[in-house]
Amino acid sequence: MGKIFAVANQKGGAGKTTIALNLAGAYTYDDPELKVLVIDTDSQNTSVRSSGVGEEPLPFLVAGLAGAGKGLGRQITTMARDYDLVLVDCPPSVDNPNTENVVQVADFVLVPMDASPADAWSTEGMLRLVRRVIGPDPKRCGIVFNRVNTKTVAYAEIREAMGEDNPYPILKSTISLREVYKSSVGTGTTVFTAIKGQRSNKPAREEIMNVAMEMLQIIGLAE
Ligand SMILES: Nc1ncnc2c1ncn2[C@@H]1O[C@H](COP(=O)(O)OP(=O)(O)O)[C@@H](O)[C@H]1O
Ligand SMILES: [Mg+2]
Repeated sequence: MGKIFAVANQKGGAGKTTIALNLAGAYTYDDPELKVLVIDTDSQNTSVRSSGVGEEPLPFLVAGLAGAGKGLGRQITTMARDYDLVLVDCPPSVDNPNTENVVQVADFVLVPMDASPADAWSTEGMLRLVRRVIGPDPKRCGIVFNRVNTKTVAYAEIREAMGEDNPYPILKSTISLREVYKSSVGTGTTVFTAIKGQRSNKPAREEIMNVAMEMLQIIGLAE
C-alpha cells in the first residue's frame, strides 16, 4: 500500500497543482524505480491537462478523479495499492466534498500558502478541516510557504502567527517565486525534466527536493 500525500488548501492559486506535480517529479527523480501516481481531484483538471501537453511523457502517471463523488476516498486507497506513493491534487475549496474525502484517506496533508494575511485566513479554515477529520497529529499535516521571499518582515510575521494555536509543523523548506514553476505546468514538465532554452533549474530542484524529503522526515520515513 503506497503512502497518500494530499496537497490541499481552500484558496485557488495557492500552488497545489504546481507543488503536487513537482513533488511527483522530485520523488521519481530521487528514485526512478518508485511508482508514483498523481490524482487530480479538482474539476479544473489542471494536473491532468498538464500531463498531456508535454513533448515527453512525465515519469509518473496522472489520473483524473474529480467526478468520483462519494467513493473518491475508496478509489484513492484502491489505486494506492498499485503504487509506492500517491500525490493528490485537491480542489480550491473546503466546501467541495472532494477535499474532505481526500483528507480522510491521506497519510499526510501538505498545505501550501503564500505569506499574505488572506492566505493565512484561508489556511486556518483548511487546518480546521484537517483537525476535525484526522485530529491534531503533528505527523499528519504540515504547512509549506510558497512563492515566498524569506527575507521580508511580512514573511517572518506570518510564519510566526501561523505557528500559534496550530498543532502542525511549518516546513523549514520553502518554495520561492520562480518563472520556471509557471512554465513547467504549462509545458507538461516538472523542474526535474529539462525545459529547452531554460536557465538551470537547480535552485528550483533543490527547494522542491527539500520539501519532498522533509515530508518523509515528518511522517517518519526518512532521517
Ligand atoms: N512558486 C511559484 N512561483 C511562480 N509561480 C507559481 C508558484 N507557485 C504557483 N505558481 C503559479 O501560480 C498559479 C497558481 O498555481 P496552481 O499550482 O495552479 O495553484 P492551485 O492549484 O492551488 O490553484 C499558476 O499560474 C502557477 O504557475
Ligand atoms: Mg490546482
